[in-house]
Order: sequence, then structure tokens, then C-alpha cells
Amino acid sequence: MGINHNKVAAMVTRLHGVAGLPEAQAQCLPGQFYSCPDFYQFEVESFLKKEWHCVGRVDELAEAGDFFTTQLFEEPLILIKGDEGTIRALSNLCRHRGMPLAEGKGHTRRFVCSYHAWSYERDGRLAHAPRMQEKGVTPHSCSLPEFKTELWNGFIYVNLDDNAAPLATRLGNLEALLANYQTAEMRHVHSQEEIWNTNWKCLVENFMEAYHLSVVHPKTLHPYTPTGLSRKSMADEAFTSYCANYPDSAASRGLGAPGLSAEERRRSTLFCLFPTQLVSQAATLLVSLSIQPLAVDQIRVRWTVATYGEELSAAELDERLALWNEVNREDREKLERMQRGLASRHAPSGQLSPADFEGTICDFYRYLSRSLSSHIAVTEL
Ligand code: FES
Ligand SMILES: [Fe+2]
Repeated sequence: MGINHNKVAAMVTRLHGVAGLPEAQAQCLPGQFYSCPDFYQFEVESFLKKEWHCVGRVDELAEAGDFFTTQLFEEPLILIKGDEGTIRALSNLCRHRGMPLAEGKGHTRRFVCSYHAWSYERDGRLAHAPRMQEKGVTPHSCSLPEFKTELWNGFIYVNLDDNAAPLATRLGNLEALLANYQTAEMRHVHSQEEIWNTNWKCLVENFMEAYHLSVVHPKTLHPYTPTGLSRKSMADEAFTSYCANYPDSAASRGLGAPGLSAEERRRSTLFCLFPTQLVSQAATLLVSLSIQPLAVDQIRVRWTVATYGEELSAAELDERLALWNEVNREDREKLERMQRGLASRHAPSGQLSPADFEGTICDFYRYLSRSLSSHIAVTEL
């Protein structure tokens, strides 16, 4: 059964309307935008599969031959550092009959398929296919398909669309916001993957609004980043952001890079690089969540943590990781409970709070509205 075009077209019209509301009348999208499988499929095909998605940090792949696997939509991927230092995103499917070649992370000289032992070099070229010479399948006659990658500030991005425009050239304002943190220099210390039963947009909105901080995170975040001190920050077509300022009573969380201002040392800068990367940048800690949508009500979250230099001790880093685990658990519990009711015909289109607390959600709606009008028409699906 195909998607219900009339329904999706009406929802797109409604989205344009909500995204165009003046700030004083800002409201959230009604529940069906987070629960309708047809709308989800439309989002995936019309823009999500054409966007840049962060998959991890550059220094997760330190040596030539280091790799990790991940998946974007229906494409299983191997991220690998090649002999010449290039980071590639290769299709993680054997060219013989489609067996995945690798799982998890590790270091390898070659990938050998576990099914019939075809093997591949680190750059994806076929190395050997047993008993296939007479069929014309010879070393270097076929390769694993490769996807576009781009590196920015120590993050690795992949785009499934071969015609995608470059990413970094669009990030001048965000670059300026982060300039003093030395984000690219931060050292990878942790990565983790979880499946959450929520719509991808719910996590974007949750991560980017400060309204819930003091309510959902009274012990974990409120002492450092209470709702009341949060201030909306820069936004443009590529991202939105806010500053979660620390109270004067809070102890220092470290100095970080030498060029940071006193204000930058006393806040976390949270941004969403549209559509699926969510980042908390603080002086000594960088936390990034990559959302990989799986279904209308399910996502995979791959999150990484990096730190500045050696300032934080191992014990302090463990403490920060435990804190972020708890914060993510608190958010996940709320989002999974909320998701259960979003298909209700009463799921509201409630008023949003003032811009310092939920203005980033309006920026996100404007991004969605632009994305859905500039890509394919509903009826072309
Ligand atoms: S599927 Fe890989 S060698 Fe057959
Ligand atoms: Fe939260």
C-alpha cells in the first residue's frame, strides 16, 4: 500500500502554517507529525536521505585500518581509515550476494566475507574472490560502493546522495559560535548506541529546548544549567542553538581552550546541526548525539563524548559519563512515554514557551518547512 498523498499534502500545508507563525503565537506541531507512518516515509524520501548525517568522531579511527560500522536508513556502512589517511564510508555489503562484511568496530588489513570468502582492501577494492577467475571476477575488477564523506570540527559526516552539496561551506555562523572551543582538537573518549522508541523530531526538540531542564533533570542538569538562565542563541538555515548558562554558585567545570571567554567557560552551548546532530559544547566536554531514524516511532542514537586536553582526570571523566547516561535515561523515559499518545486525535498543538526556552523549536520547524518545500512534491513519491 502506498502512502496517502492527500493526507501528507495537507500535513505539509499545516507545517508551513505553523512554521510561519509569529513568535508570540508559536505553537508545536500536532501529534500526527510524530506518529503518522506516511508522513515519516515522506520525510525520509524527500530530505532525510539527502542530508548530511554525523556518524562519529575523526579520532575514533586513529590508525590506518581502524573501522567501525553503522547504518543510515537502509544503507549499512563501514567507516574506515585508509592507508593514505583518508576516511571512507564504504557499503558494508559483499559484492557477491550481499553479506555484511564487518560488525562493530576494530582494526583490519582486509575485510574477508564470512560467507564465501571474497576479500576487500581497506579502500574497498576487491582483493580476492576464490574460484571466480573463469567468471571474470578478478582482483580489482569490482569494489565496494563508497558514499560521500566530509570532516568538520573533528566530526565525520556521511551523505547517501551522490549529488549532495558540500556541508562545511554552509556552516560559517556555527563555526563562529564554536571558534574559541577548539572543537576539532577535542579527544574522543566514549561512544555508545541505543534504540529509543520515539520519533526522531521529538529528540531534536527535546535536546534543543531548555524549558524541561529543571523539571526533568532536577539533580543532574538543573544545578548547572537551570531553565531560568538559558538564552536563545544564533540560528540560520543550517542550525539552531541556545546557551545553557551556569549559575554563579556552580563550581567551575574546567578551563578548556586558552581562548575561551569567561562567559564561554560558564555555559554549555547547545546546537542542532539540522537535521539529526545534537551537540552540547562545554569548555572541557563535547557530547554529540547522532539520530538515525529507524521508523516513525523508533530511532537509533549514537552518542560520542570528547574532552579538551588532559584537564579532566579519569575519575572526573567517569563522573561526567555517568551524568550523561543518567540525563539521556531521564529524557528517553519522557520521550518514550509521550510517543505512546501522539497518535491520539487529541494530541495537542500546544503553545510554545518564550523564545529563550523553546524558540529553537520554531527554528527547527522553519528548517522542516524549507526542506519539504524545496524537495520533491508529495505526489512524486
Ligand atoms: S556473500 Fe560474500 S562471498 Fe558470498
Ligand atoms: Fe533533557
